[in-house]
Amino acid sequence: MELLKQRILKDGKIIGNDILKVDSFLNHQMDVQLFNEMGKEFYRLFAYKKITKILTIESSGIGIACIAAQYFNVPVVFAKKTEARNLDSEAYLSEVYSFTKDKTYIIRVSKNYINSKDTVLIIDDFLANGKAALGLAEIADQAGACLGGVGIAIEKGFQEGGKILREKGINLKSLAIVNSMQDGEISFAE
Ligand code: G4P
Repeated sequence: MELLKQRILKDGKIIGNDILKVDSFLNHQMDVQLFNEMGKEFYRLFAYKKITKILTIESSGIGIACIAAQYFNVPVVFAKKTEARNLDSEAYLSEVYSFTKDKTYIIRVSKNYINSKDTVLIIDDFLANGKAALGLAEIADQAGACLGGVGIAIEKGFQEGGKILREKGINLKSLAIVNSMQDGEISFAE
């Protein structure tokens, strides 16, 4: 998506070798007009799947998912990362390992909000190693729901998440795929 790529080039900051800081428009301050265009694009890419629910994970996925949901006209469910004892007996759980933070956490979604009649679209801001997306896909699977696809704002093509998801046959679409961030230069996949 050209608009997102141009914004990454204009306002993205490279930290070290592999972190792209986009918190001026994506995951701290949020440019809602840009999100709106991203939502339209996700709708264009996934509308044919007859999505009934958008599934994301707290916190940065939520804003993007909510704006996209207005096009699909479906609810957003977000996986929680924190323990809630009263939720756990009635929840789908999945383990997610974060390479960035070097820790494993459990994500949870109440059984009330996804079921076998749903076709789920997973939306998130970043795809790095793919663990969060795979955890969400596992939750959709536990619910017996159909996975309509995974929509990502920024995929880091030099990390393995995209390859793993595509090899599993998951219908993955990323609005911008960053292939390298060498010497302060960001380059995208076509
Ligand atoms: P994975 O889910 O794809 O395996 O990724 P990983 O564990 O490595 O990433 C953990 C967190 O770091 C995620 O946010 C992810 O969105 C974020 N992240 C990964 N790479 C980048 C990057 O290059 N730039 C930025 N800005 N974020 C990145 P999280 O811990 O779930 O936090 P939240 O912001 O959603 O609350």
